[in-house]
Parts: sequence; C-alpha cells; structure tokens
Amino acid sequence: MNRWQPQDRYFKRAKKEGFPARSVYKLEEIDRRVRLFRPGQRVLDLGCHPGSWLQYCARAVGHRGLVVGVDLRPMALELPSHVQVLQADVFGLQPADLQHLSSTFDVVLSDLAPATTGIRAADSARSSLLFERALELAGKLLVPGGSFLGKIFQGTDFDSMVKEMKRMFRRVRGMKPRATRKESKEIYLLGMEKRAGWALSAPSGDLPTAPA
Ligand SMILES: C[S@@+](CC[C@H](N)C(=O)[O-])C[C@H]1O[C@@H](n2cnc3c(N)ncnc32)[C@H](O)[C@@H]1O
Repeated sequence: MNRWQPQDRYFKRAKKEGFPARSVYKLEEIDRRVRLFRPGQRVLDLGCHPGSWLQYCARAVGHRGLVVGVDLRPMALELPSHVQVLQADVFGLQPADLQHLSSTFDVVLSDLAPATTGIRAADSARSSLLFERALELAGKLLVPGGSFLGKIFQGTDFDSMVKEMKRMFRRVRGMKPRATRKESKEIYLLGMEKRAGWALSAPSGDLPTAPA
C-alpha cells in the first residue's frame, strides 16, 4: 500500500544531519546534477522557512556570498552572518525591499507552497500563483545569465508556466528529485542562463514592459 510516511528516511537523515526540513535533499540533488551554486554568489530563497535551503545555500556560496530568505513565517534558526531573512509576503515584496541587501541576484529559488486544502484543483491553482509571483520577482531581480528554480504542482497552468520560462531562460527543464514524495504532484522547474532581453507576456502595472 502506498501510504504517506511523514518520518521517512529523508526526514530521519535531515534530523541526524541538523537540517530542519527533508526538502534540503531535493535541492542537494538538483545542485549535484546541474551545479546551480558557486562560491561568492548572491541567492534569493523565496519561501525559506524553516531554513534548510538557507543552510545549504550558505555553505554552497560561502562567506563571500550572500543568501537572502523571505517567508511569511518568522525564522527560528540560527544562521551565519551572510544569510539575511525578511519576514514578508511575496505578493507584497518589492525589489526596493531588498535593495539594502542586494539589488540583483545570481540565483532565485522558490520552494513556496500554499497551505494545502486537500482539494487538488484549488491547491494547484494557489501553487501556480506562488510560482508565477516567484518568476515575476526573478524577472526583476536576476542578473542576465542567472538561474531560477521554482516548485509548482502539475496542473492546468503548468504548460503556460513552462512557456513563460522558455521566454525568460535559454535552458529550461523539469526536475523531480528522489526526495519528492511518490504521491506528490510537485515538480521543480529550472531555468538557466536568463536572457538579457525579455518581457513577461502579460505585463501588469509594475512589470518591465521593455527588454532589460
Ligand atoms: C515547503 S516550505 C519551504 C521549505 C524550505 N525550502 C526549507 O527547506 O526549509 C514553503 C514555505 O512557503 C511559505 N509561503 C507560502 N506562501 C507564502 C507567501 N505568500 N509569502 C511568503 N512565504 C510564503 C510558507 O510559509 C512555507 O514556510
């Protein structure tokens, strides 16, 4: 029987290795496969609580790099000085709110997830909105050549998100790391080598309308 096991081997390993969430092994696998991070990079982590991706990124970029996390929830974890956390809603977050830390980033991550209702269509729609917002922020904050990794539930908006990603990045692929629970509909979309000139297809008030 395919029963959900909250305390699976990744959960136990995370506990043993001092990470607050098992999701760190998803990021680790993706990084191992595509070499997402390099020392000295600036990384923005949207939906960073409880902080396992922050811990991973802090090690990957080292003390000469910068890691900025954003989440609705306050961070309880003690983190190195090159990691900064903002308690904020990504829908209200503006680039100006990050300017005192950095005006651009080399990598934008989004592990944003809505509080699930169990109603698949509703959960998938909310996940798409979060993904879309993360991609919008990546459009504004990523340097040309930068990378974006975002979690999305496979649903109705999936194909249009892939299309949007392909407009923004030269290389786009979907990744389902082994630590993803078998029954989960989540997938990570990775965009690498952000194009220097692009514009989102459905610009709203504060989006760029001309290529950067
Ligand atoms: C799966 S958790 C992230 C786990 C994290 N990557 C880690 O490894 O510790 C998803 C996070 O998204 C956050 N989140 C959901 N909606 C948000 C929003 N509108 N603004 C900011 N954070 C949000 C939740 O509070 C939650 O902490």
